[in-house]
Amino acid sequence: MKKIIKIFENTDQMAAGIAEELRSAVNAAEKDYSLALSGGSTPVPLFEKLAQEPYRSTIQWAKVQIFWADERCVPPDSAESNYGMADRLFLNKIDIPEGNVHRIHGEADPRGESLRYSGILREIHKTSEGIPRLDLILLGMGTDGHMASLFPDSDNLKEREKLCVVARHPQSGQPRISLTLPVINNAARVWFMISGKDKNKITAKVIAGGESAGRYPAGRVNPENGELHWYLDKPAAEGLNRKIAAEAE
Ligand code: 6PG
Repeated sequence: MKKIIKIFENTDQMAAGIAEELRSAVNAAEKDYSLALSGGSTPVPLFEKLAQEPYRSTIQWAKVQIFWADERCVPPDSAESNYGMADRLFLNKIDIPEGNVHRIHGEADPRGESLRYSGILREIHKTSEGIPRLDLILLGMGTDGHMASLFPDSDNLKEREKLCVVARHPQSGQPRISLTLPVINNAARVWFMISGKDKNKITAKVIAGGESAGRYPAGRVNPENGELHWYLDKPAAEGLNRKIAAEAE
């Protein structure tokens, strides 16, 4: 697995860097490009960039099949909805066929929806082992090292068969639907986007790797046959050890 760390002056430059790389990857793809989006606030500057020129009209959006890494079990028009946020910020501003946007139905029964969404993933991406291989999964990370809706010490981290699981936010108890580690680690690329000083300690621990990193869900993200990119703004990168920081691009 190839691990690349890129450190940016601020979140706007980080968003521009990711938008550039996303455009290159999509436009170089032969056919469909499957992209799973993260929720939370970190992707907001990126989503805003994608709605602006040059990305709005130069990314070949008709190739892009949009999925989500996780979703809160709320209706799509809820302020909490990851789909709703992406739709408001960029999906309703770009020329992408409606059929390419595969939202998780947060308003549905969680268990039934996790099964339905697993079927959608399987349809789009048949693979011999039965685990879909998405081209790119964008992830954020919480200060507790959670990613998607896989939280520390959750049994969902042990899931090896299912593609999606029902999770519960440890503080709010909010039900969620999340991709599982087998799907995340089968992706061709996983890009973490992390910003803010409050995440520099957990970021350093997770990027350092090794056993202690494995205590955190984000530390379990190792796309065996893929690339793992860490996009950090400077405040989030402050805790990195000197050697790792020196190797960063
Ligand atoms: C979600 C996300 C979640 C998020 C982290 C970081 O549905 O909330 O998928 O995993 O990426 O909690 O959130 P922030 O970007 O808001 O810090």
